[in-house]
Amino acid sequence: MPKTIDSSSQKTSTQSQWQHRHVLDAHDLSKTDIEAVFARARSFAHIFDSPEKALQNLHGRVVANLFYENSTRTRGSFELAAKYLGAHVLNFDVATSSVKKGETLDDTILTLQAMGVDAIVLRHASSGIVSQLAHRYGEKLTFLNAGDGGHQHPSQGLLDAFTIQEKLGLVAGLKVVIVGDIRHSRVARSNIAILQTLGADVHVVGPAALLSKELPCATHTNLDEALQDADVVMALRIQLERQDTNVQYLSSLSEYTRFYGVTRERLVYFCKPTVKVMHPMPINRDVEMTSDLADDPQYSLLFDQVRYGVLIRMALLSLLLERRGVA
Ligand code: CP
Repeated sequence: MPKTIDSSSQKTSTQSQWQHRHVLDAHDLSKTDIEAVFARARSFAHIFDSPEKALQNLHGRVVANLFYENSTRTRGSFELAAKYLGAHVLNFDVATSSVKKGETLDDTILTLQAMGVDAIVLRHASSGIVSQLAHRYGEKLTFLNAGDGGHQHPSQGLLDAFTIQEKLGLVAGLKVVIVGDIRHSRVARSNIAILQTLGADVHVVGPAALLSKELPCATHTNLDEALQDADVVMALRIQLERQDTNVQYLSSLSEYTRFYGVTRERLVYFCKPTVKVMHPMPINRDVEMTSDLADDPQYSLLFDQVRYGVLIRMALLSLLLERRGVA
């Protein structure tokens, strides 16, 4: 018999715990907040089996997607999440907009507000910009940080932790190893915050030049050592677009793969037998992780992450817009 969820009681209990006007930084979220997001996300899980995929939670609301950096998953899943909840969606196309005529970000935000937009999902190369805008315009607009430079990507941290919770049954006490370009990774920062809040034992590993000194977790430069008894291994993309072109971070990509590539052999030899691999994607196949591993359902959670990303973004939009009294 399939499990059913009373979504009305879920909605009331999670809403009363939720106090946020925006989602800007994973560090702002308490364990109670994260659990409220997860409970709300679970209440929407039926959407994938529904022939219409059309709820009314955000009927009449307007969500604008502003992506000043490229995206497939975050942009697509925020768009679908808003549409599944019944909202109108404005996909602002930076490349064909008046940004190309020199219009400022502030004027763009004010323009969208004047058009009746309720929530702005923003990805931008500038670290901290979403919080600054929320400070300036947050009385009338809800802001969701969809990735700001190398700083934060809170919905990614939430969907990754949710994937672990749903597929492994718990997060607390698990050893999660994040491997790759930690220094430039907003995904790493968001994951460390969320996973530690939920009680995971988080380790990061990468070449010394791609680590960051101020991280509040165990750091390693030797992948095999870091992988000992790991429950989850999360590989990250080398962020060439954020690297200082005057600095040589890696001697070569092939050397990176030799020392830091996640392979079946490494998993079998060093990790727990139940280990799972994750990657926020886009993935450089056979660089950060072997392609056969990324496609192996025994190990890979890559497309579970994508699917759960839609539910997490539905949860965030509904919690935020209901909180503002506009849904
Ligand atoms: N994980 C992630 O942020 O992917 P996109 O860049 O495709 O949104």
